[in-house]
Amino acid sequence: MVMRLDKLLAHYGIGTRKEVKKYIKKGYVKVNSQIIKKDDFKVDIIHDAITFQDESIYYQPFVYLMLHKPAGCVCATKDNVHQTVIDLIEGYENYDLFPVGRLDKDTEGLVILTNDGDFAHKLLSPNRHHAKLYYAHINARITDEDIQAFHDGVVIDGYRCFPAHLSLIKNYDELSEVTIEIFEGKFHQIKRMFQALGKRVVYLKRIKIKSLKLDPCLKLGEYRELSDDELFDLKKNL
Ligand code: URA
Repeated sequence: MVMRLDKLLAHYGIGTRKEVKKYIKKGYVKVNSQIIKKDDFKVDIIHDAITFQDESIYYQPFVYLMLHKPAGCVCATKDNVHQTVIDLIEGYENYDLFPVGRLDKDTEGLVILTNDGDFAHKLLSPNRHHAKLYYAHINARITDEDIQAFHDGVVIDGYRCFPAHLSLIKNYDELSEVTIEIFEGKFHQIKRMFQALGKRVVYLKRIKIKSLKLDPCLKLGEYRELSDDELFDLKKNL
C-alpha cells in the first residue's frame, strides 16, 4: 500500500499535516535509512522501513474495534446534539473511524468501528444477507404464530422481510425474553417487525454480527480491537 509520507506520519499521530511537513524538511524522517525531505514522497507502508528521529514507525493502515454501545449515543461520526459512538473512543483520533451500520439511539450492544471502507461495504451489503443476532424484551407473550410469522417473513409497510428466526427464551405474564436473528438491516427493523405483530420492543441489544460475538467482558461503553482470529472469521465469505 503506497501513501504520501506526510499523510502517513500525520495518521500515525506524529503531528498535524503542517507540523509533519516541517519535521520532514528538518530531516527528521528516514525511509530505508535515507533522509527524505520531500513531504509528498511516496512510501510503501508494508515494505519500506520508516523512522522518525530514528524511531521506527509501524503503521497499521486499518483498525477494527468492537464497541459495547450504551443507550443514549448515536451511531454517527458527528452529531450536534447527541454523543456519538466515536466520542467514546480514545487513542484512535487519527484513524478516521466510523461505525459499520447503525443501531438506534436506545439500542445497546455490538457495534464494529473501522476505517476500512471496503470491509464495511461488504458487511453491510443488502445482497449478502449477513446474520445479526439480537436479544430483546417484548411487552407481551410470544406465541407460536409470532415465531411462524418471523419464519415466513413479517410484512412491514408493504415490504416482506427476509425470513428471520425468533426464538423464545421465556414468557412472563406480560413480557417475554427472546432472541431474533435477521439477515438484513432495514431502518428500525426489529421494532417494526414486532409492531407489525401488535407488540412492542422494550429493550434491544445486538449480541452478534456474522461470526463476531459481543465480548461479555466489555462493559457498556468499553471497546477493544478485534483479535486476528475474530477478524479472519469475519472476513471469511464476506
Ligand atoms: N432493529 C431495530 O429496530 N433497532 C436497532 O437498533 C437494530 C435493529
